[in-house]
Amino acid sequence: MTFTLPELPYAYDALGPYMSKETLEFHHDKHHKAYVDKGNELLQGTDLQGKSVEEIVKASYNTNQALFNNAGQHYNHIHFWQWMKPNGGGTPPGALAKKIDEDLGGFEKFKADFIAAGIGQFGSGWAWLAVKNGKLEIMKTPNGENPLIHGATPILGVDVWEHSYYIDYRNARPKYLEAFVDNLINWDYVLECYEKAA
Ligand code: FE2
Repeated sequence: MTFTLPELPYAYDALGPYMSKETLEFHHDKHHKAYVDKGNELLQGTDLQGKSVEEIVKASYNTNQALFNNAGQHYNHIHFWQWMKPNGGGTPPGALAKKIDEDLGGFEKFKADFIAAGIGQFGSGWAWLAVKNGKLEIMKTPNGENPLIHGATPILGVDVWEHSYYIDYRNARPKYLEAFVDNLINWDYVLECYEKAA
């Protein structure tokens, strides 16, 4: 199988009270698993079998919409689990903090703009911090799309599909986004992604 469902990097109850065990059970075991299973089914008979997830996302965009939707969501969720950790949040590590100051006007402005991108994504989608042409950018995309198909590399993303927050926050997407930034972001992993992308 080309796509495999990764284990969560922490226990299902480790992100409480900001993201519950019930949310993670549904989100990881049902939603992410469905993208993996459907993606593998749609890959059968194509010449993309065995390629990397990134290559499949880019190659299927605008050519095979059903495969793209599932491959994109698989890529997004692989990283989403790692972009969070218990006792996360706080401020970014030195090198990244400096880059956020230079490109995005400081951490507080980054935080406000990142949350606004998540609130402003109408319907399902994602808000991102990405590297494009050597600069940090805040982006938002609908459905399973991500910065890869817009010539950028995502280094942080937050899922704003209702399945990500409805159990814990009901319709209060802004509260979920604030909790994500203040208490869940795994900045060490964001830095790792930044160093690879830079
Ligand atoms: Fe999701």
